[in-house]
Amino acid sequence: MSPATSHPEVDGLPLAILRKRTSEKWSGHSDEILPMPVAEMDFEIAAPIRSALVEMIQRSDTGYMGTNLELAHAFHDFSESRWGWELDPEQVYIVTDVGVGMIEISRQIVSAGDRIMIHTPVYHNMRTNWIAELKCTQYDVPMKQEGMHYSLDLAAIEAGYQAGVKLHYLCNPHNPVGTVFTREELAAIADLAQKYGVIVLSDEIHAPLTFAEHTFVPFLAVSDAAREVGICVTSASKAWNLAGLKCAQVVTAHPRTKALADAMPPAVKYRASLLGAKANAIAYQSADWLDAALRTLDRNRRAIALQLTAKLPEARYRIPDCSYLAWIDLGAYNLGEDPSKVLLERGKLAVSPGSAFGPESSQYIRMNFATNLEVLTEGIDRIVASL
Ligand SMILES: Cc1ncc(COP(=O)(O)O)c(C=O)c1O
Repeated sequence: MSPATSHPEVDGLPLAILRKRTSEKWSGHSDEILPMPVAEMDFEIAAPIRSALVEMIQRSDTGYMGTNLELAHAFHDFSESRWGWELDPEQVYIVTDVGVGMIEISRQIVSAGDRIMIHTPVYHNMRTNWIAELKCTQYDVPMKQEGMHYSLDLAAIEAGYQAGVKLHYLCNPHNPVGTVFTREELAAIADLAQKYGVIVLSDEIHAPLTFAEHTFVPFLAVSDAAREVGICVTSASKAWNLAGLKCAQVVTAHPRTKALADAMPPAVKYRASLLGAKANAIAYQSADWLDAALRTLDRNRRAIALQLTAKLPEARYRIPDCSYLAWIDLGAYNLGEDPSKVLLERGKLAVSPGSAFGPESSQYIRMNFATNLEVLTEGIDRIVASL
C-alpha cells in the first residue's frame, strides 16, 4: 500500500451527526446557522485515540496525572521523525492547555505592567486575553503585508527589544494568516533575543498541520541561540481535534529556560487531564491519521481558491501553508464595519470576525475548513448570498 492510501479517508462528518456535538462550535448557534468559526475539526478522531480513551474509561483509570513519560517520549519520536528535532523528553512539561502553558510560563518571566510582543493579525487569545490575564500590555509589531503575503518585520522586532520588551509571543506557524516561518527568520529572531535578553515563547500548536510543500522549523531546533532564549508551547489538540481533553506541553532546551519551567507551580501538571495526556501520546503516534487529514485539508484549501475565483472574484485569499483556517479579505464588497455580522444575519453563516485578530483586519473573516466539501461549498454560497 502506498503512503498516500495507507489510512482510510478522513473527512467531515454529515451535519446531522455534527449537530449532536456539544462543543463550542456546535452548541453556539441555532440549527439554521452554519458554524465555521472556532478551530475544531468536523472529522472523527483517530481510531487508536478513541480505543485508548474507551479502554481507560472501562478501567476507571480516571484519576490524577501521574509521572507521565509516555507523552514526552511520543512527542520526542514524532518531532524527530517529522521535523528532525531531537528534544529532551526530560524537558517536556505537561500543562492543561496551550493557553495555561503560555500564561504559567509567562508568569515566571514578566510582572504586571510589562510589555509582551505580538504580531497582529494574530490568534485573538494571544493578542488580548492572555496578556490581560497577566496584567501586561501588548507591544504590537504588525506582520508585514504584501498582497496576502505576510512576513515578520525584523527591524521593528529589534526596535521593540531595544525599547525594553522582555517577552515575545511567536505564533509559529501563524494563525490566522497561515504562514510557516523560514529557518532564517527564526534564526534572526533568536540572535536578536539573545542579544537583548528576551525570552521567545513559540506557540507551535498548528505545526503538525503544515502542508507537504512547506517546511515547519521548531523554534528550539533552529540554533543554540534559539535553544537558549526559546520555549515551545504546544499540544496535539489542534491537529488531532482534542481540545476538550485538556492537555498541552511546555518544552525547554536550555538550563536557563528549564529553570523557568521548573519554577511553575507543581499544581500546573495536576490541572491537566490524564485522558488528555493519553490522547496526546497516542496522537503523536498516529501520523498516518494526520497525513490523511492533511490530504483532505489540502483538497479544501485549494477548493476555496477555486470557488472564490468563480463566485467571489473580489475576495482576497492566499492558500495557507498550514492548518484549516481560511483568511479572507472581503473589503471589496463593502459589508460595513464587521462583514462577519452581515454574513451571520443575511447568510446564516458564522465565521470569526477579522477584528478579533487585529485592528487592521476588520474587513477580513476567518473561516474554518476542517469539514467536508459539501459544508465548505455551502459556506461559500452563504457568503455569496449575503452580498
Ligand atoms: C495559535 C493558537 N494557540 C492556542 C490555541 C488554543 O489552544 P488551547 O485550547 O490548548 O489553549 C489556538 C486555538 O485555536 C491557537 O490557534
